[in-house]
Amino acid sequence: MELLPGGGAAVRANRVWSQTVHAQYGGVMPELASREHVERIDDVLEGALADAGLALGDLHAVAATSGPGLVGALLVGLMYGKGLAQALGVPFYAAHHLEGHIFAAAAEAELDAPYLALVVSGGHTHLFDVLEPGDYRLVGATRDDAAGEAFDKVARLVGLGYPGGPAIGEAATRGDPDAVAFKPPLKGQSGFDFSFSGLKTAALLAHRAGAKPDDLAASFQQAAVRTLVETTVRAAQATGRQTVVVSGGVAANRALRAAFGQTGLRVVFPGPGLNTDNGAMIALSGAAAITAGRAPSPLSVGAEAYAPL
Ligand code: KG4
Ligand code: ZN
Repeated sequence: MELLPGGGAAVRANRVWSQTVHAQYGGVMPELASREHVERIDDVLEGALADAGLALGDLHAVAATSGPGLVGALLVGLMYGKGLAQALGVPFYAAHHLEGHIFAAAAEAELDAPYLALVVSGGHTHLFDVLEPGDYRLVGATRDDAAGEAFDKVARLVGLGYPGGPAIGEAATRGDPDAVAFKPPLKGQSGFDFSFSGLKTAALLAHRAGAKPDDLAASFQQAAVRTLVETTVRAAQATGRQTVVVSGGVAANRALRAAFGQTGLRVVFPGPGLNTDNGAMIALSGAAAITAGRAPSPLSVGAEAYAPL
């Protein structure tokens, strides 16, 4: 990550180690996740420095995620980041996972707050009104499953493997989106919440009734995309916002991107490699903290499983 003279930042490298070890369990195993972090973190840092053509001594600051997330895995990155900052004598910034997702998209364009931010991942489906970077008002959130979690569960149901989001997106290209009818969740609500458990149950019933996996994938994806887009558009109308950033793993979904493209809103997505969890989005958070003149984090900052933005 490089701070640019006029403000903003440029991504110089973005190394991600995807933990395939969890695939056999159909979901993330916390203990294995922590161990993989310990085993891989040196290589990931070395690789990122090599990609960027930098040495450790060139770093001016270090940022690491403090939450929310799996505490064991967070602690590995947090302790590593603090230790590195201490050893190099540079400031340390603790970053919020969701703010990282928002910055991953915000870095793609010149954005003037206020704007809406939809974070759609395996753990979150949260819609924020960004009054300014660092000042967020929660407009709506899922009442049950996160969007990505629903993609993962439906994929497992029809035997498409884990992580399910990309697999559903792929199968959907071969299926008929109108083959299975899904009832829109929370129809008639005046607020801007989301719900995916009803879609998941409907998918289960359709599967038992013999729906073809590709058709089920296409129909479920269409229903999930519709509820995400329609709720966000209503929130934009209610708040008068004309720009929406959409980020998190599910923001990689092509049908979601296409549907947002039809809304008439200015919609900004993260660039390649910045949708699903990655280190660059956390570095972008650190860069934004520096640009905004925020004080570095104390080294006493801890890992948090739950941390509202
Ligand atoms: O942001 P992320 O990498 O991790 C969390 O913070 O949760 O998001 C992972 C989630 C998974 O549920 C995955 O299935 C979903 O994002 N995902 C997708 C796509 N790529 C990843 N969902 C739908 N379509 C995709 N192309
Ligand atoms: Zn995430």
